[in-house]
Amino acid sequence: MLGNGAARQAKERRENRRRRKRKKSARFFSYKVYEKELCKIFWSSSTAPLKSEPRNISQHLRGIRQFGACIYHADMPMKKEVSSVPSFSPTSNPPSTTSDQDKPAGNSPARQMEKLISSKHNIQHVPESYILPPEIRPGKATTPSCKCIPVIDLHGNIDSNRQDLVQRIMEAGQEFGFFQLTNHGVPEELMNETVKVAEEFFQLPVEDKASFYSEDPRKGCRLSTSIDYDHEKVHFWRDNLRHHCRPLEDHVGEWPTNPTRYREVIGNYAVRVWELSLVLLDLICEGLGTESGYFEGGLSKLQMMSLNYYPPCPDPALTLGLPKHADPNLITVLNQGAVPGLQVLEDEKWLALEPVPNAFVVNIGHTLQVISNGMLRSAEHRVVTNAYVARATVTSFIQPSNDSLIRPATVLVDRCSLPLYRPFRYEEFLRTYVKDAQEGKPPLQQYEISQT
Ligand code: OGA
Ligand code: NI
Repeated sequence: MLGNGAARQAKERRENRRRRKRKKSARFFSYKVYEKELCKIFWSSSTAPLKSEPRNISQHLRGIRQFGACIYHADMPMKKEVSSVPSFSPTSNPPSTTSDQDKPAGNSPARQMEKLISSKHNIQHVPESYILPPEIRPGKATTPSCKCIPVIDLHGNIDSNRQDLVQRIMEAGQEFGFFQLTNHGVPEELMNETVKVAEEFFQLPVEDKASFYSEDPRKGCRLSTSIDYDHEKVHFWRDNLRHHCRPLEDHVGEWPTNPTRYREVIGNYAVRVWELSLVLLDLICEGLGTESGYFEGGLSKLQMMSLNYYPPCPDPALTLGLPKHADPNLITVLNQGAVPGLQVLEDEKWLALEPVPNAFVVNIGHTLQVISNGMLRSAEHRVVTNAYVARATVTSFIQPSNDSLIRPATVLVDRCSLPLYRPFRYEEFLRTYVKDAQEGKPPLQQYEISQT
């Protein structure tokens, strides 16, 4: 028999557990549930707690109209930028205000290679052109680490706990737009080798990398630095190599052969990440309630591999490796290695997404936010630098073909909710994404359908 105090404590624990469970299940809201539960939820004020509790029925109705199944997060997808600071994007092309004096004269390969941050050795001070305006500097304050972003364990066997996985992925996508994945089936050795090969590439002498350097974003396999070095106001502390990966045989011939194992390692890695991405998209498809295979074909046609290199920086408080942005594509699968640097904006606060050994970081892109009609969220993130070690990361952007039509999935707008976005071609969006980034506008704003 338990004593009175112990019995009371056990009861409290049970109740807390029950309360947590109720709260958790309220957060996940697949369309299957949505269809059945909508009326019940709409009319009953005793429903499980909402993240942003509507204050009255008309507000609730507006929430339903605007956000459909995303009602539990009604404050989330339409949140407007409040910052007066221009936001940059990883592919932006901000108008130049750099004086000609600051620019290298001539565009010889040697001059171009001087622009790479990895070409600058033993820098004692941050060069003027890398010092960010105070409003977007990360500053000296330490950033809390983000414990809340879920780490989802695939257990190497997806089918045995499929329902649970779908639920956890959808929850994470709705609430954070980010999650980490462990036991995903890509071998640890391949994960580590990939980051090592990336690092080795950037650490090669300039003459071994020079043939890949280009100012032309259309070049198949392109080495560049910052975001748009020749036109941007201020530079970011990263070098980048990017190339397409699918179909492999069409692209691998353009990739580096130094390090000698580059093509083998990155090729194997690209195939494994591609397979994993298809599994993830299938799970997301189930969570959204769209017909199976919804993302196959044009919507997930391309796999762009982007290798980032962030060398140590003498004063990380003044610089960023990448500015605040959300990715334009469908989903992003990132191998961030063991060195921290990625930060996610959560409720207007930056949180550090610490590396979990052998895990992938997955995030939802703008395209998936639109297809899910705002149910899944493309969250803003940035990369900070550090003073001690170089950081190499390998990002796979799964993205639609340029001619793909992007629109909220029909099945999601047929069921009591209106589309939040007008249809557009992916190519059009990429163009406006860059332009909006230059002007500091939220990239999806011009595609939103007014709900009034
Ligand atoms: C990106 C990105 C994060 C990182 O390439 O879009 O957000 O940690 N990278 O390199
Ligand atoms: Ni990104």
